Amino acid sequence: MKISTILLSLAIATLVFADEDSTTSVFEVPLIHNPAYRGDFQAQMQKMRYRYGSPETIAAATKGVGLVPVTDPSFDSEYYGPVKIGTPGQTFNMNFDTGSADIWLASSTCPTAACKSHRGFNSSSSATFTLDPAERRFQLVYGDGSYASGHIGTDMVNVGGIQIRQTIGLATNESSEFGVSKMDGMFGLSFSSFESVPGVQTFMTNAIAEKAVALPVVSAYLPSLRRSGGKGGHYLFGAIDSTKFQGDLTYVPVTVKGYWQVAVQDVLVSGQSLDSSYQGIIDTGTTLVILDNMTAAAVHSKIDGANFDAQKKGWTVPCSLSKATTGSVGFKLAGRVFEVPMADIVWEPVEKGKGKPGEEICYSGVQSMGLPVWVLGDVFIKNNYCVFDQSDVPSVGIAPLK
Ligand SMILES: *[C@@H]1O[C@H](CO)[C@@H](O)[C@H](O)[C@H]1NC(C)=O
Ligand SMILES: *[C@@H]1O[C@H](CO)[C@@H](O)[C@H](O)[C@H]1NC(C)=O
Ligand SMILES: *[C@@H]1O[C@H](CO)[C@@H](O)[C@H](O)[C@H]1NC(C)=O
Repeated sequence: MKISTILLSLAIATLVFADEDSTTSVFEVPLIHNPAYRGDFQAQMQKMRYRYGSPETIAAATKGVGLVPVTDPSFDSEYYGPVKIGTPGQTFNMNFDTGSADIWLASSTCPTAACKSHRGFNSSSSATFTLDPAERRFQLVYGDGSYASGHIGTDMVNVGGIQIRQTIGLATNESSEFGVSKMDGMFGLSFSSFESVPGVQTFMTNAIAEKAVALPVVSAYLPSLRRSGGKGGHYLFGAIDSTKFQGDLTYVPVTVKGYWQVAVQDVLVSGQSLDSSYQGIIDTGTTLVILDNMTAAAVHSKIDGANFDAQKKGWTVPCSLSKATTGSVGFKLAGRVFEVPMADIVWEPVEKGKGKPGEEICYSGVQSMGLPVWVLGDVFIKNNYCVFDQSDVPSVGIAPLK
């Protein structure tokens, strides 16, 4: 993986971030207990099942739950799963991205080499497709300079059985970066305010409004290859799979709706606090963890053999750390520390095949960039189950994977 592709999902330039105050604000959600409440027993039981059942059973047996298996084809650097678009459904491998809002993929008419390297959507063979009446266009430029543009339209979008009519972007131009990816398109899971075409609502906003999902959540289970043994993970729309994590979820309030932005209260290396806090986003579409340079330097100063490679402009660690059985980098969110084991801080070799056996140097999974937020990407998520909860008071429910 190239360091330059890390930020594929970060369209940062045009976005607004938290003001200084919100880093210190505390959210308190009062629990209002109504003693006269009787409720609907069956509905309550059903809700409990959505929350605590196993995904295979609930997805098969109940409305409003969609299970999308994802594969992990390139060593935890991107995860993708199938989505059906149109009537009859055409199936595409989509990258589910909590760092952006749009759903887009190549149009089958797109002439660029990147488009032709994967499947495109043929709107003329879908009975339900309608082009945007105003013929609006979309254009996306990502943090690494890659881009996609084209027209928009609506069609039926089916995610693990949850099907709604949804606005999608059909790219007629994609930059070369998308040619190397194994995915056919992006499936945005951030908030509607990030849609590139103003007024368009995200899939989840629409699915919630149409009561197509049992709970207003998307749960990400993205275990590392090391953990899953190649079996992949899943996204669960409308439910939570408590068999995949330890203990209870900690609900971390979203501080600014746009990204899934939260307050990171501290960073710890093997339990030692760095006394460092900042706003961070939980981003399934970014591979690594990205901090500011000072904090990244502090993290690596506590790891034996770690360095900043000025030539490659990246933080490095000894590859042998991948065998470490102790140590971790932890992130404190809503008072609880969520860890990434040291073995998962090791990324790919800086120069493949070079270096004496046992002395090879690898990129670190924690890098730095001058971004207005920290980014907790897949390095974090592949160790911690994340529930992106779009209730009226949005939050991310997090618990360590089993
Ligand atoms: C798209 O579908 C139409 C109608 O089924 C077909 O005639 C056309 O060849 C298809 N185009 C591509 C690029 O596959
Ligand atoms: C795609 O966009 C780039 C950059 O704007 C432009 O140079 C190129 O000509 C476009 N290609 C097509 C096929 O429209
Ligand atoms: C980040 O920190 C390293 C190590 O202290 C330093 O060599 C490097 O120049 C810094 N990079 C930036 C962009 O400040």
